[in-house]
Amino acid sequence: MGDIENSEPVAERISRLDLDYKIGHCRLAEPGEVSTQEEAKAIIDKLYESGVPFFTKELIQGMWDQIEQDPIQSDKILTKDITGAVVECDVETGKVDMELEYVCKELVLSYRCRASLIRELEWKYYTFQHWEPCSVNIMHRTHEWYSKSGKTIPRCGPLGRVTKTFQDKTQEWKESPACETLKTILSSSAKYHEIDKVIGFALGTMSREWVNKDGTLDTRSAWRSASQHALLLTMTEWLQERDHKEKVLCYSQDPDCSEVDKNILDEAGIEVIEDPCGWLEVDENSIVLSIAPNVPVKEIIADIARPAVIIWCRVEFNDGLVRGLTDPDSSRVRAMMEGYELHEFSPDKELFSDVALYIRKSVSAPAPSSDGRFS
Ligand SMILES: C[S@@+](CC[C@H](N)C(=O)[O-])C[C@H]1O[C@@H](n2cnc3c(N)ncnc32)[C@H](O)[C@@H]1O
Repeated sequence: MGDIENSEPVAERISRLDLDYKIGHCRLAEPGEVSTQEEAKAIIDKLYESGVPFFTKELIQGMWDQIEQDPIQSDKILTKDITGAVVECDVETGKVDMELEYVCKELVLSYRCRASLIRELEWKYYTFQHWEPCSVNIMHRTHEWYSKSGKTIPRCGPLGRVTKTFQDKTQEWKESPACETLKTILSSSAKYHEIDKVIGFALGTMSREWVNKDGTLDTRSAWRSASQHALLLTMTEWLQERDHKEKVLCYSQDPDCSEVDKNILDEAGIEVIEDPCGWLEVDENSIVLSIAPNVPVKEIIADIARPAVIIWCRVEFNDGLVRGLTDPDSSRVRAMMEGYELHEFSPDKELFSDVALYIRKSVSAPAPSSDGRFS
């Protein structure tokens, strides 16, 4: 499994996803100029080509600070779109939608990269009078409060069973040739990089259990998540050994992580952190691991940092403009990767997708310019 391809008709996708998250209503604080679809696309392309960061720590931190104030229904969260215009987003916490059967709960951030901003211009109901191309926006988590649909809802597995999955998959991973190869490459090619933390993005949940029609458990996603967290742990242990440290900071950011995941990972030395704290932690002295995310991890990281070591799905040429991808390999991502050496360690694709190891060519950390850009 690589990137999730959005091949479904948009309307169906939106209504289904709305049961989990609801995109907030936003508007420009000062009415903007009316644009056509072509003008709007040209603006996005121009800003993107000019290198203006679509994601900055400052923007993410600013929105997070407002969410942390626990705003109530009818409050506003302020953000900026990619043109720099101020945008107001409505807080709808507690609002109930009787028809779609959900209630708006916690506020979370939503991330839209260049390809998503361009693709949504094609949505039939889009109006250009209120065009606010926000790369960071708000969403409400929605929980079904009553359902007539009778659809299967996954359950959270018990601590004992999930712990066993994590232990088994960790052992399997540690005994694999890929684990040995990874440590060997890190020891030779990342020997002198200054590194002080390891951060995982979108490594899934080990505890969500789907029951097959015959009553057996579908363990595929739990096994993937357990194996991917084991890989995160290996890099942390490698660093601990290299630097003779008793403890190295190790974080995992995935909104799907349950309390059961948190307990098990915490015991293993991995701290589960809320979105967006992971992005705010990433810097030039970090190791980043991300596998098949459904957020644009590569685009966000390309704008905010140049981590020392990265493992993520092999960077190819799909910028997500034609075929919808959640984590596209845009021109900006490809340009960033020119500063990295590609290494193969060949882990099992069933558990890790087609990932590759990238180590920054320059041992010393590149500094961003005063406007936050990495050239
Ligand atoms: C397709 S799943 C992949 C899970 C796992 N890595 C795998 O390969 O099976 C995509 C994951 O992205 C996670 N995700 C969505 N938004 C995220 C965010 N803002 N930060 C981190 N992870 C996120 C989802 O919760 C989900 O677990």
